[in-house]
Amino acid sequence: MNYVDKELPFDPYDLYQKSVQSPESDVRFFEKAYKKLRNKKPLLLKEDFCGTHMICCEWVKLNSSYQSVGFDLDPEPIAYGMTHNQVKLSLAQKKRVSIFNRNVLKAHPAKSDITVALNFSYFLFKTRQDLKSYFKKAYLGLKDDGLFICDVFGGKLCQGPSLDKKRVGPFSYQWNQKNYDPVTHQAQFSINFKLAGQTFEDVFTYDWRLWGIQELKELLAEVGFKSTHVYWEGTDANGRGNGVFKPVHTGESCESWIAYLVSEKNKGAPRVDA
Ligand SMILES: C[S@@+](CC[C@H](N)C(=O)[O-])C[C@H]1O[C@@H](n2cnc3c(N)ncnc32)[C@H](O)[C@@H]1O
Repeated sequence: MNYVDKELPFDPYDLYQKSVQSPESDVRFFEKAYKKLRNKKPLLLKEDFCGTHMICCEWVKLNSSYQSVGFDLDPEPIAYGMTHNQVKLSLAQKKRVSIFNRNVLKAHPAKSDITVALNFSYFLFKTRQDLKSYFKKAYLGLKDDGLFICDVFGGKLCQGPSLDKKRVGPFSYQWNQKNYDPVTHQAQFSINFKLAGQTFEDVFTYDWRLWGIQELKELLAEVGFKSTHVYWEGTDANGRGNGVFKPVHTGESCESWIAYLVSEKNKGAPRVDA
């Protein structure tokens, strides 16, 4: 998006980061999942669809040997992340972050211990073939014992229009699902912000296919991942997500749910379909 042209009376990336992202708990989850499966430290993390690259910035704070690489097609959030997120890092931490303005489908020479695709960004791939190409690229970009981690959401609430609101300090965040097509599983979403009595609609917009966990696991296996673990989010006393993700074999049919998929790369020779 071009937020300067939109002439918004607020900083949309600041509000987005405050409402949508929780990079501190995300990176702790990634590190813990890796240590549990590999019994060693993960050094290099790749953040696909990195936007303002908060994950990259948070990752290098965890350990002085950790490095991060981020990729995004849009120079605007990258520039924002440099001036607003990287600037909060020490010089030594900043040296361990590299951000590239490029397509996630383009290979990068460094092999990572962990690659992440967050905030459901890969939902923009609407066909099996396109998503499989992306998963294949993620697979090939990992070290032999690397992990690919992505998030996924679903539930009854996503099968039609809905508006989810939450208060975040002085403003309100609204997650607006505009529609849902049961044939194609495609849906359009937007983020609205309400500030000083005024609602600003469609500040960020998304045109996605809603993928299911089982079809994702099958596609991940087809490109070579040895296994995919599903980490399901628990709920608090009010029935909202509590940010605690635990491994499960079956899910709960609730109104809305979020999970992480943690996929282990095959340790043998890659067996990616041609
Ligand atoms: C939903 S935002 C997510 C940003 C960030 N990862 C987060 O967690 O908030 C999706 C991002 O993916 C980027 N993007 C879309 N297609 C891409 C592609 N093929 N390669 C790299 N970046 C892409 C967009 O520019 C946008 O910044």
